[in-house]
Amino acid sequence: MRYLAVVKADAYGHGMPQMVRRLMQSGIDCFAVANVAEAADIRHMGAGWPILILSPLLPEEDQLLVDHDLTATVSTLEECERLNELGIDHKTEIKVHLKIDTGMGRIGIWHSQAPRFFERIREMPGLQLEGVYTHFSSADSDPDFTQIQRARFLAALDADVPLPDDLLIHADNSAGIDSLSAESPFNAVRIGLLQFGVTPYPDSALGRVNVEPVFSFHTRISLIKDLPAGTDISYGRTHQLARDSRIAILTAGYGDGVPLGLSNCGYVLIHGQACPILGRVTMDQTIVDVTECIEAQIGDCVVLIGKNQDKEITTSEFSQKANTIPWETLCSVTKRVTRVYVGSREL
Ligand SMILES: Cc1ncc(COP(=O)(O)O)c(C=O)c1O
Repeated sequence: MRYLAVVKADAYGHGMPQMVRRLMQSGIDCFAVANVAEAADIRHMGAGWPILILSPLLPEEDQLLVDHDLTATVSTLEECERLNELGIDHKTEIKVHLKIDTGMGRIGIWHSQAPRFFERIREMPGLQLEGVYTHFSSADSDPDFTQIQRARFLAALDADVPLPDDLLIHADNSAGIDSLSAESPFNAVRIGLLQFGVTPYPDSALGRVNVEPVFSFHTRISLIKDLPAGTDISYGRTHQLARDSRIAILTAGYGDGVPLGLSNCGYVLIHGQACPILGRVTMDQTIVDVTECIEAQIGDCVVLIGKNQDKEITTSEFSQKANTIPWETLCSVTKRVTRVYVGSREL
């Protein structure tokens, strides 16, 4: 089974160079990214690594496939013809993976049209078909539909068109591998979220693998003050103190990646205690209730995501409270937040 490491969007916010260097030492087979700029960044870090671009290219980006020795995803005849000409012009073969749409409704040739498409690609001397893949829309929530997508994909491959022996055949994202059968023709997986230690949904069988999250998110207390009952808190006056309270001001807001969605419903950990977020999260500051947390002091570390004494806020719980998904949470931590890499000195 080949492992395509999905490191788009700055490796899900973890830092592309650091994650790519680590993955280069971890036995992966190929990197998968969203666009040519991300692919070029990886190419500068190491020659020879296969790099698959998952999104369609703009025509003016095609030349970069040759310049950086990259692999494109194709799903229309127009793209194939463009890249075929590019390959012929450069007396080379442009490496491509054909994407098949089995129900995602995004990119990919519609599955029933795929067999004819294989034939067309075979006739193009400027293209080398290295892989074929599909993408699941609901592997984390709808196993029945995932099975329908698998069946559509395999039926498209089963047509009478001979395919290269070493063709990479892949579908599975993190949630997909829950239902991946060892006997199937799939010979590669495309993993993003799980490689950062976050399982795609709470009751995933992968949860039993006991993965360790790579990421934690911390801020600090910059100010503490006492306010009387009845005081309105933050923009829009969405919270009114029900009792005399001690509040702490945290040095992070939505400008750092604390979602507005946590206003009045999230909490943070300080000295192992859950402290509720009061009122609207603002751009640079978040206000929390520390009335019960008598040890709280200016300068204290505050955990937004991660472990604190015997408590933990997971990326999934944080995301659920903010009415978003772990993928978005991880991608939303902004450049303003200092990244500290622990235990990675060799990187
Ligand atoms: C085409 C494609 N494949 C694989 C992945 C990886 O998915 P996950 O992070 O759920 O493993 C993504 C993520 O967005 C994707 O867009």
